[in-house]
Amino acid sequence: MTHPAIQLPTLIAHRGYSAAAPENTLAAVRAAYEAGATWVELDVQLLGDGTPVIWHDGDVARCSNGRGGLASMDWAKAQTLDAGGWFDDRFAGEKMPSLSEMLALLNELEMGVNMEIKVNKGRDPIALVERALPEMLDTLPERLIISSFNAAALGHCRQFASKERLALGVLFGSVPKNWREQCEAIEAFSVHPHWPRLKRAQADAMQRDGYQILCYTANDPSAFHSRWAWGIGSVITDEPAAFKRF
Ligand code: G3P
Ligand code: MG
Repeated sequence: MTHPAIQLPTLIAHRGYSAAAPENTLAAVRAAYEAGATWVELDVQLLGDGTPVIWHDGDVARCSNGRGGLASMDWAKAQTLDAGGWFDDRFAGEKMPSLSEMLALLNELEMGVNMEIKVNKGRDPIALVERALPEMLDTLPERLIISSFNAAALGHCRQFASKERLALGVLFGSVPKNWREQCEAIEAFSVHPHWPRLKRAQADAMQRDGYQILCYTANDPSAFHSRWAWGIGSVITDEPAAFKRF
């Protein structure tokens, strides 16, 4: 299998260093960098005006001082939100980052990113890929893994860019019986299972088939420890400092 020459890190900071800073913000990525992480996992989706932004939920209630869905919000409105104070006063005034702002920071810090194409309920996966993917491919071609739970989004990514140009990963909660078909359909680079639900036999089969395994989201290094022997390539964690110490 030929893919971009990706140097896979053993740990990837989930939504940035999300145990130490407000998730999916520039501050969370800086915190991950300062803790020694070289890669982050982030979520990208579109505002109602088509601006790609780094955000997890379909609305802003949990991670800002505002209310409302992203689908009915434009960039000017999104920039009025405080996306840091909910986490800690020290981060008050932190903004929802645009994809462009985030890519500029990742480039400056020479970090890699596992960007999750986050297709929330009722949103269009095709529009999201068309708006977000070209900019990511142009900015970080060899430090980029795109993942998604959404098969249409992954399929559209693959139409855009061959496996030689773009590494794609399939996200699974429980690994389904047809995991192999799903991976083959998009010429996947990696499989991203929810680690407590991954079975040893599945990990063995994924390895045999040549897929990298990136497990999410493990926060206790001692609980995860036995899994390294299963051939896990990377752990996606809210606690990069804890995993680095282990
Ligand atoms: O990419 C791993 C993980 O982020 C998937 O779930 O809900 O945390 O985006 P979620
Ligand atoms: Mg995610």
